[in-house]
This record gives sequence, structure tokens and C-alpha cells, in this order.
Amino acid sequence: MLIIVPTYNERGNVPMIVERVRAALPEAHLLVVDDNSPDGTGEVADALAAEDDHVHVLHRPGKEGLGAAYIEAFRWGLGEGYNVLVEMDADGSHQPEELPKLLEALAGGADLAIGSRWVPGGEVVNWPASRELLSRGANIYTRIMLGLAVRDATAGFRAYRAETLEKIGLADVESQGYCFQVDLTLRTARHGLRVAEVPITFVERTVGTSKMSRRIMTEAFWRIAVWGFTGLPARFSRRRT
Ligand code: GDD
Ligand code: MN
Repeated sequence: MLIIVPTYNERGNVPMIVERVRAALPEAHLLVVDDNSPDGTGEVADALAAEDDHVHVLHRPGKEGLGAAYIEAFRWGLGEGYNVLVEMDADGSHQPEELPKLLEALAGGADLAIGSRWVPGGEVVNWPASRELLSRGANIYTRIMLGLAVRDATAGFRAYRAETLEKIGLADVESQGYCFQVDLTLRTARHGLRVAEVPITFVERTVGTSKMSRRIMTEAFWRIAVWGFTGLPARFSRRRT
């Protein structure tokens, strides 16, 4: 299994998240994907990788968004032959101790397991009301536009079977920001694959700052509208399978 952790200016969080993942799942490998963070996150990750053969680092030339970082990481992980590829934030919002629940859902037959804040039993700790409204609103918008029966389609804590990523195809994914999560959820569902939601407790970060921006929101708004009206991106990906 490969646990992928994208980073941009997460110097204060990387040692903590690596330590917690290694403790929670000692067999798993971890891949930090850093976009040349100005704060030196990449060097901190390199130092951890030098001491631990379960820790790997991908260095990207600059900040190109969460989606692009995950695509490169998935390609690397599939090439290395990992069976399960996990997405997890570096800031502790996604608790490594909850990873076994996601893996159980895959073992139970799911093709994609999402750690969900907005199913019964799921929750968010320490978010301002404005941020909760944004996330809930984005999910309602997504459900209306795309008809997806998923309550937390923007969630960034998830486990994919390798075959799922191979089936849906990554070559034509254009999403750069957080709408990448919705993009891959939609592709998975439209391929008739099984999406399971597992309730999680999302804990807002205490170190560093969120990279959420107006640009990320605008991209999500327009892309989701286009997918809703045209049936993309499923139409493209289906052609190749
Ligand atoms: N490599 C790379 N490049 N990493 C990035 C980039 C980027 O351009 N942008 C963000 N990240 C990393 C951050 O360093 C962090 O580890 C993770 O992606 C999540 O970023 P945050 O900025 O902490 O996101 P958030 O807490 O505001 O948003 C959460 O909710 C979103 C909406 O539900 C995350 O769980 C997102 O994944 C989720 O889509
Ligand atoms: Mn965060």
C-alpha cells in the first residue's frame, strides 16, 4: 500500500504526519509529493526518507495544484506496483489512525473508499462556520449538477484500488485544484465502480495554513458545471477502456 501526502509549505507538519502514518500502518509505504515549497518542506521530507526505506519523496518544480501532484504520484505508485493508493493531507486533518476503516471498505468490495465528513458518524472539529458552509454547499452543488449519490465528493482522504485508477484513466484529467477530488469521484461512479463512504473525524490543522483560495473555488464551480451539462469527464475516459 502507498499513502500519498501532497505538500506545499508544510514543514511544521511533515515529521508529525510521517511518524503517525508509520506508527498506524508499519507495513505501508509513504510518498510525500512536494511542489518545491519555499519553506523547505522538500528537504525535511528528504531527511526523513534518508532514514526510513518506507518513506519516499517526489519533487515537483513548482506549485501546480493538488490535482497535478496526485496524478504524478499515482503514476509513480502504479509503476512501482502498489495495490492500494491512499490520498491524505499532510496537516493532520486526516487521521492516520482512521486508515484501517478505509482499507476495510476496500476489502469489503469497494473500488474507492472515501473518508467522509458528511455521512452519519462523520464530523469536523474546529472549523469556522464559514468553512463548513463552503464544504456543505460545494457538496450540495455537486450532487445537484452531477447527480452523484456521494455526500462528501470533495473529500481528500480516500483509498483507491490500483485497478480503479487504471480503469478510469488519468491521462485526460485537467483538474488542478481541489475539484480533482470531485473529478475522480465522478469518473469512478460513471465507470460503474463501487464508491463507499466511511465516516471520519476531520480535525482542522493547528500548524500552517490552508491553501484553499478563490481560484480553487472558481475552478471547481466552472468545471463541475461543465461536467454536469456535457457528461464529461466520463465520456472521454470511457472511450479509452
Ligand atoms: N503538492 C501540492 N501542491 N500540495 C498541495 C497543493 C499544491 O498545489 N495545494 C495544497 N496541497 C496540500 C497541502 O499542503 C495539504 O497537505 C493538502 O494538500 C490539503 O491542503 P489544505 O490547504 O490543508 O486543504 P484544506 O484543509 O483547506 O481542504 C481540505 O478540504 C478540501 C475540501 O473538502 C482538504 O481535505 C482537501 O483535500 C479537500 O478537497
Ligand atoms: Mn487542511
